[in-house]
Amino acid sequence: MVRRALLLLFLIAVCFAGDNLTPDEPLLDASDATLISSGDKFELGFFSPDPTSPNRYVGIWFYNMAPQTVVWVANRRTPVVGRSGNLSVTSAGMLILSDGNSTIWSSSGSPALANPVARLLDTGNFVVGETGSSGSPTWQSFDLPTDTLLPGMQIGINLTSGRRANLTAWRTAVDPSPGDFVMGVDWRGVPQMVVWRGTQPYWRAGPSNGLYLSGAPQMYTENLVDYQYTIDGRDFLLGYTLRNPSITTRITLNYSGLNQIQTWVDGSQAWNVRGYVPLDPCDYYGTCGPYGVCYPNTSPLCQCLPGFHPENEHNWDLLRDWSDGCLRNTNLDCRNGTDGFFKQSGVKLPDTSTAELYESINLDECETRCLSNCSCAAYASANISSGGSGCIIWTAAPTDIKCFSDSGSGQDLYIRLAAADMIAISESSKSNRGRQAMIISVSCAGIFLAALVASVLLIRKMRRSTANPTSSDLFFYSTISSHNNRGSLREGQEIAVKRLSKTSAQGADEFKNEVMLIAKLQHRNLVRLLGCCIQAGERILMYEYMPHGSLDTFLFDIENRLLADWQTRYNIIVGIARGLLYLHHDSRYRIIHRDLKLSNILLDKDLTPKISDFGMARIFGGDEMMGNTTKVVGTYGYMSPEYAMDGIFSIKSDVFSFGVIMLEILWSLWKEDKALELVDDSLAQSFPINEVLACIKVGLLCVQERPEDRPTMSSVLLMLSSDASMLPEPKPPGFVVTKEPSETDTSTSKGDSLTRNHLSITVLDGR
Ligand SMILES: *[C@@H]1O[C@H](CO)[C@@H](O)[C@H](O)[C@H]1NC(C)=O
Ligand SMILES: *[C@@H]1O[C@H](CO)[C@@H](O)[C@H](O)[C@H]1NC(C)=O
Ligand SMILES: *[C@@H]1O[C@H](CO)[C@@H](O)[C@H](O)[C@H]1NC(C)=O
Ligand SMILES: *[C@@H]1O[C@H](CO)[C@@H](O)[C@H](O)[C@H]1NC(C)=O
Ligand SMILES: *[C@@H]1O[C@H](CO)[C@@H](O)[C@H](O)[C@H]1NC(C)=O
Ligand SMILES: *[C@@H]1O[C@H](CO)[C@@H](O)[C@H](O)[C@H]1NC(C)=O
Ligand SMILES: *[C@@H]1O[C@H](CO)[C@@H](O)[C@H](O)[C@H]1NC(C)=O
Ligand SMILES: *[C@@H]1O[C@H](CO)[C@@H](O)[C@H](O)[C@H]1NC(C)=O
Repeated sequence: MVRRALLLLFLIAVCFAGDNLTPDEPLLDASDATLISSGDKFELGFFSPDPTSPNRYVGIWFYNMAPQTVVWVANRRTPVVGRSGNLSVTSAGMLILSDGNSTIWSSSGSPALANPVARLLDTGNFVVGETGSSGSPTWQSFDLPTDTLLPGMQIGINLTSGRRANLTAWRTAVDPSPGDFVMGVDWRGVPQMVVWRGTQPYWRAGPSNGLYLSGAPQMYTENLVDYQYTIDGRDFLLGYTLRNPSITTRITLNYSGLNQIQTWVDGSQAWNVRGYVPLDPCDYYGTCGPYGVCYPNTSPLCQCLPGFHPENEHNWDLLRDWSDGCLRNTNLDCRNGTDGFFKQSGVKLPDTSTAELYESINLDECETRCLSNCSCAAYASANISSGGSGCIIWTAAPTDIKCFSDSGSGQDLYIRLAAADMIAISESSKSNRGRQAMIISVSCAGIFLAALVASVLLIRKMRRSTANPTSSDLFFYSTISSHNNRGSLREGQEIAVKRLSKTSAQGADEFKNEVMLIAKLQHRNLVRLLGCCIQAGERILMYEYMPHGSLDTFLFDIENRLLADWQTRYNIIVGIARGLLYLHHDSRYRIIHRDLKLSNILLDKDLTPKISDFGMARIFGGDEMMGNTTKVVGTYGYMSPEYAMDGIFSIKSDVFSFGVIMLEILWSLWKEDKALELVDDSLAQSFPINEVLACIKVGLLCVQERPEDRPTMSSVLLMLSSDASMLPEPKPPGFVVTKEPSETDTSTSKGDSLTRNHLSITVLDGR
């Protein structure tokens, strides 16, 4: 009896352990014990982020908050398996987590305390110190942040003390082990806050500009917190305090690399995101390369600074790969003092890891200093808060410049330019002889307008055909006004018109993509583009006219069906294969169509198939075989599993779509009960049954699950003319995961297709 009562008392004592841990009282997972800070703000104990896993972690979370929001994890790399965890503080003052047999995790250092106590404070800090002492703790969890920055914590670098603290994201939502994303300080040059993915910079919050981190004004504007930058030479520590301490706030680095500032809303029991980065494509590191500027709301995203041109025009214009950046139009004349500066307002400061800080000089002195050093490429103010001073000088090409679209954000960057380029930029601006250098300034908002005008005026020259004198380069809208999909030129030539409505899913990007691409391609099995027209918001493509329309209407239209005998179908299959072979291997570029389907195959008067609709196509350099996208575009049912689910596309995802098309052509034959007819034909003609079997087998080979198992288009063509019995046996076809009712969703993001809660699995058996 007494023993039981004692045990009960002991359990009660453990369960209501209060806010501290002493050498006599360990924290046992088996007894569900936790520590709760004295003001009921935070709780420390064992938890399982993944309820299906036996892994247990010691962590700190907000007290009495559902869902549980963990702010710190002790043993993030080494979980306790099962509920045998025991967290204790040794008599010398060291924290030890054991699983009953061995030590799983322990606090660092070798303290020598007489009466140690570990206490969970209302700030969320877990500290170890001498009982009753108010001195600084010998160990604190705030020195080892995980993925959450709480008020009072700091991340950054102190080279003197050797302290380096960063936020390291969880690996996944339910796995606290260190993930790929780390937020910390890059102390080279002028110290700046960077988020790395692995060893590469992923995005750059930048240096402090006296008001906010240059690249993350959206984390500042909320009037919610005051950031504290402790900057001393190369040391840079970042922390914050709350303007209103009653608002529960946290800053996290999400496992997906997202940096967020969030506040807890009691009423709705949810976190409210108050600011986050990356916000737009321009936040990703180095998108536009050296001397390139990223404009979040324009297309294309990148432009060279005025006075510069793309280093690699092909990559820049065609591949939309801007990472090579830009080169000067005119070299600097660094000795004669004729160089000037172009002032770009509203920007995020370029990467400062190659820059230098001059703490006490003002902007005029900075300009003089820049002109006096041949390697100076740009300068900017180091502190834009009123009364702030100092300047930053870049001696290497400035990289990772973003132009903020809202006028309030960003600051001025002065780019050094040769006099000839200054004059070219602004013919009208008079060179001011009173000053040593002239400065032309442009704000981001102004550039944004100019970019819009430029993209409206963009009318690419189409190839000119001598064989066809009626086709010409450009048309005015009135010349081809048409109301359905068909029109004719004044000369009488019939054309197919693709008119993009302003609400068309095909954006300006896709339109430009399509025009540039088709203009460069010439093949019997690709549709020919005759011209295009961009006028007053109308975007129109003109193709050669295809009297038989698209393959889907052809196959399923009763009148046409009569035309669609086996030989026709076989020729169509071979024609599509040839067109695709050209795209994949024989043209100047490697082109992945990404949206092959029946409705994108057009038939001319001789029933020659022509691949059309290059709006989603992607072009690759010679050796590249594969791409990856977060925006999965295309048509479900035709998409290969790896593309639909992981966004990975390659020539093999086109092969998959081709396989589906083939099976559809064969299937339609089957549905129309032509199987018998086939047999009859087989008697009359020489071996078409073999052709049919070969086609079925090739179709099945093309839709195999694993891309590496699928044949290339050159093998497909070879196999189409082979004996079916010689072909390899296909493995089971790939499954495509689709959103429930709609199978023709064309612009579903990867996020949607990965929501596994409402999935249906469709076997591709030729819909
Ligand atoms: C917990 O660990 C401490 C020290 O590591 C040990 O003294 C104590 O006996 C353990 N308690 C239990 C219940 O395992
Ligand atoms: C402790 O060690 C014993 C013997 O090796 C083993 O049976 C037991 O599972 C271990 N306990 C834990 C929690 O690892
Ligand atoms: C860096 O650490 C040293 C020694 O601990 C300390 O004196 C100094 O104030 C710290 N610097 C910053 C910027 O916090
Ligand atoms: C982040 O901090 C951890 C722990 O202090 C350290 O091991 C790691 O090297 C740091 N990473 C970076 C990129 O600074
Ligand atoms: C992390 O981001 C994902 C989306 O990217 C979101 O669903 C999730 O709630 C975020 N997690 C946290 C802890 O903020
Ligand atoms: C500098 O000026 C001299 C004489 O005025 C001229 O010959 C020279 O080409 C100039 N240098 C450059 C780099 O423009
Ligand atoms: C120009 O700047 C570079 C980089 O800061 C420096 O190494 C070099 O000494 C400077 N040259 C002169 C003449 O000041
Ligand atoms: C910027 O200047 C202001 C005003 O002089 C000063 O209070 C602040 O500490 C400076 N900030 C930085 C990051 O230098």
